[in-house]
Amino acid sequence: MTSPFFVGTTNEPRKTSLPESLDPEKMPEHIAIIMDGNGRWARLKKLPRAMGHRAGVDSLKKTLRFCSNWKIKVLTVYAFSTENWSRPKEEVNFLMKLFESVLKKEIEFLNVEGVCINFLGDLDQLPKRLQGLIKEAINLTKDNKGICFNVCTNYGGRRELVIAAQKLAKRAVKGELDPALIDENVFEKELLTSNFVDPDLLIRTSGEQRISNFLLWQLAYAEIHITDVLWPDFNENSLIKALIDYQSRTRRFGGVDQISSQQI
Ligand code: FPP
Repeated sequence: MTSPFFVGTTNEPRKTSLPESLDPEKMPEHIAIIMDGNGRWARLKKLPRAMGHRAGVDSLKKTLRFCSNWKIKVLTVYAFSTENWSRPKEEVNFLMKLFESVLKKEIEFLNVEGVCINFLGDLDQLPKRLQGLIKEAINLTKDNKGICFNVCTNYGGRRELVIAAQKLAKRAVKGELDPALIDENVFEKELLTSNFVDPDLLIRTSGEQRISNFLLWQLAYAEIHITDVLWPDFNENSLIKALIDYQSRTRRFGGVDQISSQQI
C-alpha cells in the first residue's frame, strides 16, 4: 500500500537506509523541532501566510518519514503554542482547520506505517471536532511500535510545569504524597512527556535563537541546532546537517569528558 504520508506531494522514492555521512551508533533517540518561518517563507514568495503553513505540513511529512526510516524513536514538534492564540483570528482558524484536514487525510496511513501519534498540550481548548479526531488518532495508533510522533498543540512549557505542580500539590493535600519525597523523578512523571526519553537534539528553523516556552524541563541537556533555513524549505539535507552537527558534539550532561578528567 502506498502511503501519501510517506510519499506525500514529494514523489521522492522511499530511501530507508541511513546516509553514509551519519554514524548509526551516534543517532539521537529523540528529536524535537521548533518549526519556524512559515510566514516569512510565504512573504518571500509573495504568497498568503496560509500557503506557508501548507508548505510547512509537507516539510513535516518528509521529516517524519526520514526520522522513521532512520529509526529515530521519538519526534516531537511544536505545532501550536499557548501564545499562538494571539495571532489574527483568521490565521488561528486556518491552522485549526489545517490540523483537522491533515489528521483526517493522513491518519490511516500513519497507522499502516506503525507510527504512534500523540498530541501534547491543553487539548480541551481546541475546537471540538479537532478534539474528536485527536482522540480517534491516539486510540487508533496507541499500540503501534514505530516512531512516536508527538504534536505539541496548545502547548506551553510553563503551563505544563504549573499543571504538574498542581497535581503534586493536590496529592500532598490529600495526604497521598509526602512533599519531602518530591524529587526530579516524581516531578517528571507528571509531565506530558513522562513516557518518553528527553530530547537529545532540538532543531529550530528560521534562525531565531530562543526556545519559546517549548519543553522547558525536557530540553535541559538537549544539543541545540539552529538553522537559517525556513521551515517549508527544511529537507533531507537540512536534517542530515543537523544530525552531523549533533554527532560532532561531546555530551557531558554537566560532567567532564574523559580527556579533561585525565588532565587533573
Ligand atoms: C511557525 O511559523 C509555524 C507555526 C506556528 C505552525 C506550524 C504548523 C505546521 C507546520 C503544520 C503542522 C500540522 C500538523 C497536522 C501537525 P510562523 O507562522 O511563526 O512563521 P513566521 O515566524 O515566519 O511568521
